[in-house]
Amino acid sequence: MVGVGARLQYDPRLDAAPGQKLDPGRQGFRIALGKHRLGWRFLVHASILPPGPLLPLPMPAPSLEVHPDARTASRVLAEQLVARVQAEPELVLGLPTGGTPIELYAAMVEAHQEGRVDWSQVRSFNLDEYWPMAPAHPQSFAHFMREQLFEPAGFDPTRTHIPSGEVAPESIALHCAAYETAIRAAGGIAVQVLGIGLNGHLGFNEPGAPRDGRTDLVDLAPSTRERAAAAFAPEKVPARGITMGLGTILEAKQIVVLAFGTEKAEAVARSIQGPVDEACPGSLLQEHAQVHWLLDEAAASQLR
Ligand code: PGA
Repeated sequence: MVGVGARLQYDPRLDAAPGQKLDPGRQGFRIALGKHRLGWRFLVHASILPPGPLLPLPMPAPSLEVHPDARTASRVLAEQLVARVQAEPELVLGLPTGGTPIELYAAMVEAHQEGRVDWSQVRSFNLDEYWPMAPAHPQSFAHFMREQLFEPAGFDPTRTHIPSGEVAPESIALHCAAYETAIRAAGGIAVQVLGIGLNGHLGFNEPGAPRDGRTDLVDLAPSTRERAAAAFAPEKVPARGITMGLGTILEAKQIVVLAFGTEKAEAVARSIQGPVDEACPGSLLQEHAQVHWLLDEAAASQLR
């Protein structure tokens, strides 16, 4: 069965030529038929659904694994990445920061130290960075990545990418466009690793962020700032960041989401079993064909 639809959509940053296929790699396809000079475009979209009754719509079961703890889940993912990179040394990875990936990165470092993997050819793109933020600042995501993963795991610094926290205001648009271009030039992100915010955010895409958004400078939600506050002097808590957009993230061929602890249980349940709604960015992952959730028991505790 084929479902089709059409919609008019506003996106001033869209640079797709008329007729260009959008979102390769996703289930179904969308084609931009035209683009008005003010940013309006007309989309037709079609998707192939398995045969069956029209209502209720068939819901694919979410792909998820629940492990006893974060360490076990992280090690499972690390071993999968080791195997992928052994087969495909130049794999393109999308990477997160925060508390969530610490065990994953420790396991990736360990695999390198044991001589089981060579990460030096891997190309990586980080999700986000505070702005303004010097890369040498101990709370920058650039610093976090160097310390936790890139240096101890032997990544090649010329192949790692992270949005710049020190780009001048007048150059931000250009910098963000160049980030998108670099991802496309690398062939797109093969495996995007994500954490999820307490409010369901992905990267710094806070509730309400557009599902077609591209890399951009954004405001941080109050709850995100509160969580960051412990690491900064009160007047220095970052208010903004540069993040890959939800459109960028959803173009990754494969997405793995890590979530650990009771504090993430609500965001996990809303993302996996709630309505698909920009009010919970994580729920947009339901529209991606290849998402796998790796949870500990606490984070899975509100799934029905
Ligand atoms: P955390 O952050 O890993 O520090 O919990 C995740 C996120 O905000 O995306």
